[in-house]
Amino acid sequence: MVIFEHSQYFLIPLCILFLSYLKIRTRKKSPAPTNWPLVGMLPGFLQNIHRIQDYITEILNHCGGTFVFKGPWFSKMNMIFTCDPANIHHIFSKNFSNYPKGPEFRKIFDILGDGILNADYELWEFNRKTTLLCMSNVKFRSFLERSIWEKVENGLFRVLDYYSKQGIAVDLQDIFQRFTFDNICKLVFNYDPGTLSVDLPCIPCEKAFNDVIEALLHRHFLPESVWKLQQWLKVGKEKKLFEARKALDEFIYPLLITNEGDQNDDFNLLATFRREFEEKNGSSAYSRHFLRDTSLSLMFAGRDTTSTTLTWFFWLIAKNHLAKTRICEEIEVILDKRWKFFNAEESRRLVYLHGALCESLRLFPPIALEHKAPMQSDTLPSGNNLVDRNMKVIISFYSTGRMEGVWGEDCLEFKQERWILAGGGVKQEPSYKFPAFNAGPRTCLGKEMAFIQMKMVAEAILCRYHIEVVEGHLVAPRNSMILQMKHGLRVKLCQKNV
Ligand code: HEM
Repeated sequence: MVIFEHSQYFLIPLCILFLSYLKIRTRKKSPAPTNWPLVGMLPGFLQNIHRIQDYITEILNHCGGTFVFKGPWFSKMNMIFTCDPANIHHIFSKNFSNYPKGPEFRKIFDILGDGILNADYELWEFNRKTTLLCMSNVKFRSFLERSIWEKVENGLFRVLDYYSKQGIAVDLQDIFQRFTFDNICKLVFNYDPGTLSVDLPCIPCEKAFNDVIEALLHRHFLPESVWKLQQWLKVGKEKKLFEARKALDEFIYPLLITNEGDQNDDFNLLATFRREFEEKNGSSAYSRHFLRDTSLSLMFAGRDTTSTTLTWFFWLIAKNHLAKTRICEEIEVILDKRWKFFNAEESRRLVYLHGALCESLRLFPPIALEHKAPMQSDTLPSGNNLVDRNMKVIISFYSTGRMEGVWGEDCLEFKQERWILAGGGVKQEPSYKFPAFNAGPRTCLGKEMAFIQMKMVAEAILCRYHIEVVEGHLVAPRNSMILQMKHGLRVKLCQKNV
């Protein structure tokens, strides 16, 4: 009896314990990795490395846009991840001088040497000024338009006509990579390697890029001592990187010699660099290495970014019939139902196409992660996050495009209308909200060139072929520095009666 009389004293704490248990069970589990002693959060990241972009996005969404990653003890791997537009604006523009690429970036991207993507300060200024000098030349622009046009007619159409007549499925991503590789080689070296031809030749240098971008992403999430050991032992991704580097050098160095006497120095990137560099420093053994680094960086900047965007664009519009119909109707009106050469000015009238390309870039920015090293400790505008000068800052452009707070509840939907003003023009978004082309003083120098190229290719294909993605084709982002499609994009084409 005494026990029953005092049972409430036992029952109340028991109920509280039970309710707390239920609360813990039903609470939404945080996707953030556990911070273990010694190894920090690394195990959680490595476990999710096969889906790293989505994993980072889940964490950032859960943490309101900024997250501190604790690396293994003594590994110098503490990082701050962010996708918050206020932080992007702060890092890339307002406090630009405090956020160079830094020595860690140079170590990871050592393959690019002293090229523009790797350089800081004076070296970067020289690289940027010289690239701009060439790209803003009127002759370069018409050379660019002419070479894209020729590649469409003599490369793209020939290959796609062949596959459509044979009724064989083709990997569009591979076709676009070949297209952009030939094109960037023409612009850098004034040389067309002809990888976009019917027999789809295997040129080691062209394929080497894929091995490089995969290894470079892994270097971000492995302690330096681990990837350096793999490099030394020549195993795993480091072995592939070593072989890729050899293939790239074997391709580039001979072209530097061939290009030496090139007279077309007004519109050839390599010739412009050679002239400017030698005027400033004179000719030396270093100048050949510098020109190799510069050429390789420009090839990197121009090849995969554009081909990857085109691949996602064709997949996205294949799933959005209305969007595709609108783009095709617009092209028919502007081109008068006939594929013809158009220049940059005319391409600006293709508003729906422009909107659809921006939407593809928002959802699948080819350079999905950026990497910075603060010179001095700093406080980020979002929630007073303190950035220690020994930390890396990783900015996820992929996540920015997928934040409800930035793009609204429908942020995961493909809506080209987002980019079109009520009056019919293109809506411009600030680069810190739409950072696919980077933001601030290091904004992409090839943005306009990329849009011309993408519009010409998209338009040429949409005018000439019906396209269907092969049934059951698996689509997922590849685990690499550039957000390619893991299994390519297999499509069947059928030529239209035009
Ligand atoms: C859809 C296509 C493209 C996208 C999304 C894109 C995006 C970007 C991004 C995010 C960066 C910053 C990279 C970094 O700092 O690590 C960048 C830089 C750069 N891009 Fe592009 N790019 C595209 C096409 C091109 C093309 C066709 C070229 C022509 C060669 C080009 C030339 C450059 C150069 C030279 C830089 C270095 C700018 C600097 O550091 O000052 N890009 N691009």
